[in-house]
Amino acid sequence: MKNIVLVGFMGSGKTTVGKLIAEQTGMPLLDMDAILVERAGKPINEIFAEDGEPYFRTMEHELAKELSETEGNIISTGGGIVLNPENIDNFEKTGLVVCLLADAKTVLDRVKHDNARPLLAGDKEQAILDILASRKHLYESIQHKIDTSGRPSPVPTAQEIIALYESNKP
Ligand code: S3P
Repeated sequence: MKNIVLVGFMGSGKTTVGKLIAEQTGMPLLDMDAILVERAGKPINEIFAEDGEPYFRTMEHELAKELSETEGNIISTGGGIVLNPENIDNFEKTGLVVCLLADAKTVLDRVKHDNARPLLAGDKEQAILDILASRKHLYESIQHKIDTSGRPSPVPTAQEIIALYESNKP
């Protein structure tokens, strides 16, 4: 049984949508950031501050490889998973990879009260615009995409992904 792998920018709704898909399908949800926090024994912003982003990316890459060898899970990735194309290639081998897109305004609305993301410390709006611009081509290059911009509820997004998963079953 294939995995469902959710990819997309911070605040695109990967974890929320992943939880809904888990409730509806009974498939377990594996949240990569939560696993990395557990492994490191500290929150993401402390990993970034104390060990550096390259260290985080290495841990993330190793975990992506490990999870791509599992079956039947919903995997919610961190927004930077697309930075290493090998991560997506690995996930594509055993999973349906779906990218959730969201415009800068939607992302800002969803993350404005959240200070746990190290890359959005400081001027959030500017950081979102800059990082979105630098990664846009990476998110766009994923075959299955759903634009969640302005969608007030994650429910239709979860339903679309379940339908796509059903129609992609061998
Ligand atoms: C990151 C996104 C975060 C987390 C880390 C880096 C990124 O995950 O992995 O802060 O580079 O976009 P979310 O997408 O769940 O916020």
